[in-house]
Amino acid sequence: MSDDLERLRADAVVSLSQAADLRAWDAVRVGVLGKSGSLTALLKELGKAAPDERRARGAALNALRDELTQLIEARRMVLDEQALQARLAAEKLDVSLPARPREPGAIHPISRTIEEMSAIFGAMGFTVGEGRDIENDWFNFGALNIPGHHPARADHDTFYLPGTRDGRPLLLRTQTSDVQIISMLEQEPPIRVIAPGRTYRADHDATHSPMFHQCEGLVIDRGITLGHLKGCLIDFLRAFFGVEQLPVRFRSSYFPFTEPSMEIDIGWNRKTGELGGGGDWLEVLGAGMVHAKVLANCGLDPREWQGFAFGLGIERFTMLKHGISDLRTFYDGDPRWAQHYGFNPLAPANLIEGI
Ligand code: DAH
Repeated sequence: MSDDLERLRADAVVSLSQAADLRAWDAVRVGVLGKSGSLTALLKELGKAAPDERRARGAALNALRDELTQLIEARRMVLDEQALQARLAAEKLDVSLPARPREPGAIHPISRTIEEMSAIFGAMGFTVGEGRDIENDWFNFGALNIPGHHPARADHDTFYLPGTRDGRPLLLRTQTSDVQIISMLEQEPPIRVIAPGRTYRADHDATHSPMFHQCEGLVIDRGITLGHLKGCLIDFLRAFFGVEQLPVRFRSSYFPFTEPSMEIDIGWNRKTGELGGGGDWLEVLGAGMVHAKVLANCGLDPREWQGFAFGLGIERFTMLKHGISDLRTFYDGDPRWAQHYGFNPLAPANLIEGI
């Protein structure tokens, strides 16, 4: 190889080894192989050489171009790899560390409400059941006296899932009332159970979330009357809201799984949001005496066993008790919201103010 090519090669090799990043590397590449690059200039001059010399020098230049092209490419791969390693090191995340070390956790108001409801009903002798988020349509509808053509099925905007269980279509339960059926099938009466849990409906706006929480209640025994239902729910409402003389009103209504059925209102002041006086009514519960067909669906003889059931929205109870105005904030996961509305898990036990 002639001296000038030898020099060009040596210069290129040194510059390449000194190119510490892709930008410097590209400058070397353009400086050698680019339009006005040093090697390109020599290739252009080739035409001026005498034919004999041209052949030999042409071959040497081509060989040098191939060699440098390979060296340049190899250097790029080294630099790429270095850049990747540097990035991986810089973006390294230790997933075992706490996500937000400076934000202390808090008990979510929904969890707190569930704890309070469990404590109040627990004191009345209820156990806490659970049910299943994924249910078949017999537990969610059929056994509750809501047959296939019943309009309540359409009202519920149900999320159906692929597949079946026990030959019945699967769905995300739209209500915790499935726990009535589960409890009656799995337990011998007398039964006293509440079941707080997640429920799902295809609905999303300021007052609806596709996932929300309900709490179901069921009492089955001999000689149960509407009087038991009223006494139990009045006590519960006054204890939960901590208002001793909270006005409670029972209004006749309809649910397929209870007969008679009722909706239950509490007294409040619509303007101030204060519970108790104020002369306005707010609906908070659905309830009724368990329908004879539902008892029979669970193998209980309605002439021997009676009962009452109720269902409530946990978000609604939580919003009313703590003055939270927007349902969507419950699920935003904003730590500032959790700090403001959440509860200190280490605070001294002061769970139930009302009982
Ligand atoms: N499951 C009803 C709903 O989601 C609420 C309800 C009403 C539950 C009356 C009951 C009841 O147990 O007796 O709207």
